[in-house]
Amino acid sequence: MKIIIKSKASIVEGMASTVRDQPAVVLREVSAGYARHVVLHGVTARVPAGRATVVLGPNGSGKTTLLNVIAGVVAPVAGSVRRTSVRLPAYVPQRSAVADTLPMTVRQAVAMGRWARLGPWRRQSGKDREIVRECLRRLAIDDLAARQLGALSGGQRQRALVAQGLAQRSDLLLLDEPSTGLDLGARGRIADVLHQERAAGRTVVRTTHDLAEALRADHCLLLDEGRLVAQGAPADVLTEDTVHAVWRLPGRPVARPPEMTNLPG
Ligand SMILES: Nc1ncnc2c1ncn2[C@@H]1O[C@H](COP(=O)(O)OP(=O)(O)O)[C@@H](O)[C@H]1O
Ligand SMILES: [Mg+2]
Repeated sequence: MKIIIKSKASIVEGMASTVRDQPAVVLREVSAGYARHVVLHGVTARVPAGRATVVLGPNGSGKTTLLNVIAGVVAPVAGSVRRTSVRLPAYVPQRSAVADTLPMTVRQAVAMGRWARLGPWRRQSGKDREIVRECLRRLAIDDLAARQLGALSGGQRQRALVAQGLAQRSDLLLLDEPSTGLDLGARGRIADVLHQERAAGRTVVRTTHDLAEALRADHCLLLDEGRLVAQGAPADVLTEDTVHAVWRLPGRPVARPPEMTNLPG
């Protein structure tokens, strides 16, 4: 009995702490897309600062577009986006969006992460080189530094892209499906590094298809057909009913997704 009361109390405390968090990003009634194709419709959402946020939704629901909007790569056609971070966000795009044939080594790719601060034409300092070495080490790819990016396995290349993101030393790290299709080792390494970044006070936003991974985050944004259907603590957002409705899973009588719910968190 005591354990039950305790665990309930800690859940409530957990919610209260995310409610109190300052936002790193605030989107108000954002509509955005590509050319004449509007993908996101009236999205109002909040990304808490210094926390791990996951963005979920079926294929084509607008997860990548939402990251593009937060990153500033895609401008909204309506609504507003406010980022409180001083630095430019570090954006790690989906692996499949990066050309396999890029003629550069792993070290050069990670060093590109420093360009956001330096511009491409300034010589790297000893400090830059030290940051690059540290990022290679943290992703356990230091032994691959001289290899061509295009010659790596999917998991190795993804770790190189995450290392490039870390090298930017931004306080807002955006990652598009960083662990999709990777083996356990690469996923574990990336998860550990993102956990460390969050523990160091950085804001981490990632898209994922992995419910177990999502449940370990602090905050969750759930998209369906370009609309935000829920946001809040992952355990509150990702209920069985909601998951069945949004992913149209068989075996449930729920015919359509829920109305937008704004949960604490
Ligand atoms: N560059 C683009 N130009 C036009 N339409 C796009 C582009 N990128 C994505 N879309 C369309 O936007 C919708 C949402 O895509 P996306 O944000 O990539 O979803 P998700 O990441 O959830 O799979 C899809 O219908 C997709 O076809
Ligand atoms: Mg996507």
